[in-house]
Amino acid sequence: MHGEVFQPNKDFAKNARVKSMDEYRALVAEADADYEGFWAKRADEKIAWIAPYTKVLDESSAPFYKWFVDGKLNVSNQCIDRHLADKGDKTAILFEGDRGDVEKITYNELSQRVNKFANLLKNRFGVTKGDRVVLYLPMIPEAAYAMLACARIGAIHSIVFGGFSSEALRDRIEDASAKLVITADGAYRKGKPYLLKPAVDKALENDIACVEAVLVIQRNKEDVTWKEGRDYSYNELIKDESDVCDFEVMDSEDPLFLLYTSGSTGKPKGVQHSTAGYILWAQMTMEWVFDVQGDDVFWCTADIGWITGHTYIVYGPLAAGTTTLMFEGVPTYPDAGRAWKMVQDHKVTQFYTAPTAIRVLHKMGENEPEKYDLSSLKVLGTVGEPIDPPAWMWYHQVVGNGKCPIVDTWWQTETGGHMISPLPGATPIKPACATFALPGIIAEVIESDGTPKKIGETGLLCITKPWPSMIRNIWGDSERFKKAYFGDAKKDGKPVYFSGDGAVIDKDGYITITGRVDDVINVSGHRMGTAEIEAAVKEDEHVAEVAVVGRPHDIKGESIFIYIVMKEGKVNDDIKSHINQVLSSEIGNIAKADDIVAVPGLPKTRSGKIMRRILRSIAKGEEITQDISTLEDPDVVSKIKEAVKNS
Ligand code: WT7
Repeated sequence: MHGEVFQPNKDFAKNARVKSMDEYRALVAEADADYEGFWAKRADEKIAWIAPYTKVLDESSAPFYKWFVDGKLNVSNQCIDRHLADKGDKTAILFEGDRGDVEKITYNELSQRVNKFANLLKNRFGVTKGDRVVLYLPMIPEAAYAMLACARIGAIHSIVFGGFSSEALRDRIEDASAKLVITADGAYRKGKPYLLKPAVDKALENDIACVEAVLVIQRNKEDVTWKEGRDYSYNELIKDESDVCDFEVMDSEDPLFLLYTSGSTGKPKGVQHSTAGYILWAQMTMEWVFDVQGDDVFWCTADIGWITGHTYIVYGPLAAGTTTLMFEGVPTYPDAGRAWKMVQDHKVTQFYTAPTAIRVLHKMGENEPEKYDLSSLKVLGTVGEPIDPPAWMWYHQVVGNGKCPIVDTWWQTETGGHMISPLPGATPIKPACATFALPGIIAEVIESDGTPKKIGETGLLCITKPWPSMIRNIWGDSERFKKAYFGDAKKDGKPVYFSGDGAVIDKDGYITITGRVDDVINVSGHRMGTAEIEAAVKEDEHVAEVAVVGRPHDIKGESIFIYIVMKEGKVNDDIKSHINQVLSSEIGNIAKADDIVAVPGLPKTRSGKIMRRILRSIAKGEEITQDISTLEDPDVVSKIKEAVKNS
């Protein structure tokens, strides 16, 4: 298999939007020759402008770039209204609940429900343009209605993944000073009801001044506590609202949403996305990378709490006028065939998931896909972490029956949409390789001074020209924005966007992502900052010092490995479980550690910097190759190794 290249499927390529590498190269050349012209052409073609823009790209206050300056539009119009004339009866959202309940929501119905929701936000809660609304919701259609309702009235939504704890939720509500929180009583997972509302109650325990109300959607009818005057029932109130609501005229650069994500330092940061640039690229990548057409049924298994859910469950598919499948449950319940049964039942044409899920499904049911009719599938996608060749091969051979191209899409919360990915009808694919930057995206692998890395050498993966769907700012912290993204690499003396990832380019120009080079770890596709985890562990009174690293894990990609220096005594199971409790309450269950090891000290330089690289090597069981003589106490390394061995 090594070195094998998979050519595009000829039948697929015939009808694809980009049919060959020649066509791909022509698009790249077009962007090369006239960058702004390239983007203007797409913006004119794709966006339902209410008023035209006057300038394509304004670089005068770089890195605070502005796209499609002065243009007016509304994202809910782009995703709903403009489709109604010819697609009103087409299914917009195809929902399947955990227990197998199915609901089809047409574009007409979506329009009515979003308008009612928008009216409710406006009339009942006084939400207006620019207000922040936090969504803490399960995977139910109302989550999409809520997002689009915010977009319709110009409110900025900030979705907090339902797996985050009340602590994490509170931080995000406060940072954004949200006026309203929208949640649900709970939902269903693995056949059982679970609750969300109690976490909201806890987050708001010591009243947060900004929050005026909590809107509660009923999903599982479980008993939840109710605070009169603060909590309101969506199901009751929505009945009275009209299904006509004019959309707010928004500027290209008005923020569409915030989404908090982890960085290598400090607290999670509120990534701020724009209106025009974001929706343009969400729609274009649906068309180019997934090549959705006609009656395709697109299924992205992410949660709406992550950027993948924003761009590829809600905004991208609906802007492209396609049918998006939304699933409440998990692909392994009631058994390892659930996902494949859903593909069969709904005739899914594009299936987009994370390597972690592929590894789990592979492990649980190597031949399971063969029991189902998966012949509707045209394109398979992966995202979130590097995929390993065995998982890739299984996905290709067994799930895709050898005929579906796999688009290994590299991108980030900050990039808004795909950056590096094969095009399914054009790109000869090398397994587990993100291949080439999309047309209009200038990705380079460089050193921090801009020197290009040689073939086969790992360097910093940078996007060296601004692009429409890029992050606009970190909410409330412009300095951090500049430092975090434009502080590490320069080209021709000008700061460029550095992703935090390393990558390598091969002799054929293919880009392979090697993973984060900063202190961010990726557990099952969930991004976490080691600094954030360390801050939480320090809450434990027994802990004097802590260092967190990622360790390669068969299924999760990486797992959390914690080194602690105890104030006194030894680590016992009580302390371990206490630390995991602290992590789950400060961050969420996704932050639980697989390994917690007590060590006599941490490897530090004389200036006090922890050498995480050494700790990563030890966690992996690797020989230490780096020079340890510069450490304050070089002997500590062998002691740490010993402690890990005995743990
Ligand atoms: C980080 C971004 C993009 C949506 C999901 C995650 C890693 C993402 C790939 C890929 C290798 C990947 C990177 C990136 N990543 N896609 N195809 N191959 N690594 O979004 O939480 O913002 O995380 O995920 O390390 O920086 P996110």
